[in-house]
Amino acid sequence: MDPEPFKIKMIEKIRLPPKDERERLIEEAGFNVFNLKIDDIFIDLLTDSGTAAMSDEQWAAMLTTKQAYAGSNSYYMLEKAVKDIFGFKHFVPVHQGRPGEHILFTNIVKSGNIVPNNSHFDTTHANIKFVGGVPKDFVVEDACNTEKNIPFKGNMDIEKLENFVSDNRYNIPLIMITITNNTVGGQPVSMENIKKTSEIAKKYFIPLFMDACRFAENAYFIKKNENGYKNKTIREIVKEMFSYADGCTFSGKKDALTNIGGFLATKDEKLFEKFRNMLVVVEGFPTYGGLACRELAAMAVGLHESTEESYLKARCGQVEYLWKRLHDAGIPTVNPAGGHAVFIDGKRFFPNIPQEQFPAQTLAVEIYIESGVRGVELGTSCFGETNPETGELVKLPELDLLRLTIPRRVYTNNHMDYVAESVIKIFNRRDEIKGLKRVYVPPLLGHFLAKFERIK
Ligand code: F0G
Repeated sequence: MDPEPFKIKMIEKIRLPPKDERERLIEEAGFNVFNLKIDDIFIDLLTDSGTAAMSDEQWAAMLTTKQAYAGSNSYYMLEKAVKDIFGFKHFVPVHQGRPGEHILFTNIVKSGNIVPNNSHFDTTHANIKFVGGVPKDFVVEDACNTEKNIPFKGNMDIEKLENFVSDNRYNIPLIMITITNNTVGGQPVSMENIKKTSEIAKKYFIPLFMDACRFAENAYFIKKNENGYKNKTIREIVKEMFSYADGCTFSGKKDALTNIGGFLATKDEKLFEKFRNMLVVVEGFPTYGGLACRELAAMAVGLHESTEESYLKARCGQVEYLWKRLHDAGIPTVNPAGGHAVFIDGKRFFPNIPQEQFPAQTLAVEIYIESGVRGVELGTSCFGETNPETGELVKLPELDLLRLTIPRRVYTNNHMDYVAESVIKIFNRRDEIKGLKRVYVPPLLGHFLAKFERIK
């Protein structure tokens, strides 16, 4: 494995609370890891969003850029990066991914419209529903076979998409494609699949938008695993990926290596005008878009750093390292390793816990108690459909996953070994562990604030 193309310049202490304290803390948190405090967490694998370690060059750019309400120089740095790296002429900065989604859908989705995607992330799902639209997923069937080890399991099912689009063409204001596909295990989408999706979009005169959060990691997988891309640079691959899209939503908190930020881009000048007008109302003036100008500078530098191959090789290599340790020990991982996280199949990890009793959420709780490590459930609690009146689960999602999400440039492989050992210990005593009962759930994005009790 290639070593990281950087070294550590500053460190932050972490503390492992004693086990009896961890047991008390998770109970007080309603068995929901979102309610834990960071000082009580040893290794935080909740998310790769906004958790990257920034480089000296990013910090330097933050200090030297000028803060201005209008016309800040960091806006022009970011404009150049968006044009050079993605090829988009028009964009508005936003403070993270979801306000970009909100501006996009408010402007083009009407009540009753349907928005296809390979898999909607929970925020795109919620933002489409918020404006009365219907989000619909068309991911390939292999994505639900967590054991199958083939590349590009994040792909769109082209045949299903085309059949659906041809039947509903006048009710589809845009098609989306999420790269990498977070919901099904951080699995990438192939260039061929992006191209075919764009051909369908063009055939029916429907714009194609990418959910581009983890575009650089997706490009790395294309280079590594898709025929014809071995000798292309990451930047060339990224340019080609976005040449098929009419626009994108982007959370800079992932592949721009920043702690906050994002943008919404489009090739359509009229749509751009609408985005700008709404931006002023909900985020701020177009040259800062809800951010301090220094955050735009960090994002511009980060976009260049994250599209360097040596960085991506070490980054995706670390995810694969943890995946391999778990997989080799017989843990039911989602195969192959994803771009930003290792996912564990909750239903296969705890075959004795029914899905209604939240196996992946149970695993998140057990991992915290065992080792002070915080993972996150992306499964029944996050994606299950709930009756808003009674809070009861009415539809179970196909997958019930626990995500060990690796922040960029933050942890070492010693940390990864510690995480792997703790999961293996739990696996060895899995038959003794009981599931959870959900006792509180709010109506939208319920998993953040849900509360649980242990089943006795
Ligand atoms: N799309 C995808 C695929 C995402 O993974 C996220 C965020 C968003 C959109 C929204 O971006 O948080 O900046 O508003 N994912 C984070 C995660 C929260 O932990 O996976 P945001």
